[in-house]
Amino acid sequence: MKNLLIIGGTGFLGTAIVGELARRTASADFQFTLPTRRRDHAKHLLVLPTATVVEADVHDPATLARLMVGQDAVISLVGILKGGEGEPYGKGFARAHVELPQKIAAAAKAAGVRRVLHVSALKAATDAPSGYLRSKAAGEALLREADLDLTLFRPSVIFGPGDSFLTLFARLARIAPFFPLAGAAARFQPVWVGDVAAAVADSLLRPESIGAAYDLCGPKQYSLRELVSYAAEVSGHPRAVVGLPEAVAWLQAWSMEFIPNGPMTRDNIRSMRVASVCDSGCALPFGRIATPLEIVAPTYLRG
Ligand SMILES: NC(=O)c1ccc[n+]([C@@H]2O[C@H](COP(=O)([O-])OP(=O)(O)OC[C@H]3O[C@@H](n4cnc5c(N)ncnc54)[C@H](OP(=O)(O)O)[C@@H]3O)[C@@H](O)[C@H]2O)c1
Repeated sequence: MKNLLIIGGTGFLGTAIVGELARRTASADFQFTLPTRRRDHAKHLLVLPTATVVEADVHDPATLARLMVGQDAVISLVGILKGGEGEPYGKGFARAHVELPQKIAAAAKAAGVRRVLHVSALKAATDAPSGYLRSKAAGEALLREADLDLTLFRPSVIFGPGDSFLTLFARLARIAPFFPLAGAAARFQPVWVGDVAAAVADSLLRPESIGAAYDLCGPKQYSLRELVSYAAEVSGHPRAVVGLPEAVAWLQAWSMEFIPNGPMTRDNIRSMRVASVCDSGCALPFGRIATPLEIVAPTYLRG
């Protein structure tokens, strides 16, 4: 495992995975190929001497075929939270979570790259209430059907510097006098980005992970209300959180769909109807102990 193609590697989790692997293999000259839609999305990775950032359309099979040449493994990380409405999922979800994994599987097989690590989402299921979770399940199924050395990761919400979860709440707390919150009772078991990156890196180096699917969770469950309150308080702007009734939450989410980069969609509300928690308790593979949120979050939320 020397040459790695990391698709979706320029984002929050991808950056942590690249960092984790680069640290572990400082002496082993791991080479990362990181396709991106826009080079400036990968500015922070350009300094890494072992990373090659390429502007590429990974949805184009010919481009994917070129990217696969000479790779030993593929890490597949592309994911979106807004994919539109539709049955069983919106067009955006179909493209990013279903068609892309299918194209990755086909290109990997054609190039003889057997090892594939794919990040899905906790509680992805064909009968899940949201297009996000249904499309993630469809992507998993297509990869499972392909004859590859596959490992799947299914994290709950991920926290860490640069997350779009606790950081968003902390930012909103600065400007909002109180929080009108949709899905206040929704349950999560947040997992630290460093632990998710370590699980991926461990799996890459451990053949026994082939064929496994790992649910990834932190040590503790919280309601969304608790997490928002916590992020606001730790950032120095404690705020009252007001849970919205379902109908109002729905209207709020629908109106936010018209705002570019709006923080919520109706599909997000549907996702929150399933508790994003690990049924077996705290879960990380290979005996790793999950890092508590209260240890890491203050380091990047304060101030
Ligand atoms: N963050 C969480 O809390 C969480 C929880 C559970 C599961 N996950 C899953 O973990 C994976 C990584 O999440 P993340 O938080 O690191 O996401 P992220 O920060 O938004 O990064 C997404 C990556 O995917 C690429 N990308 C996004 N949309 C794309 C598209 N339409 N076509 C091609 N590339 C696209 C981006 O590349 P460029 O912008 O450089 O092109 C970026 O590298 C995703 O599959 C996500 O569903 C995340």
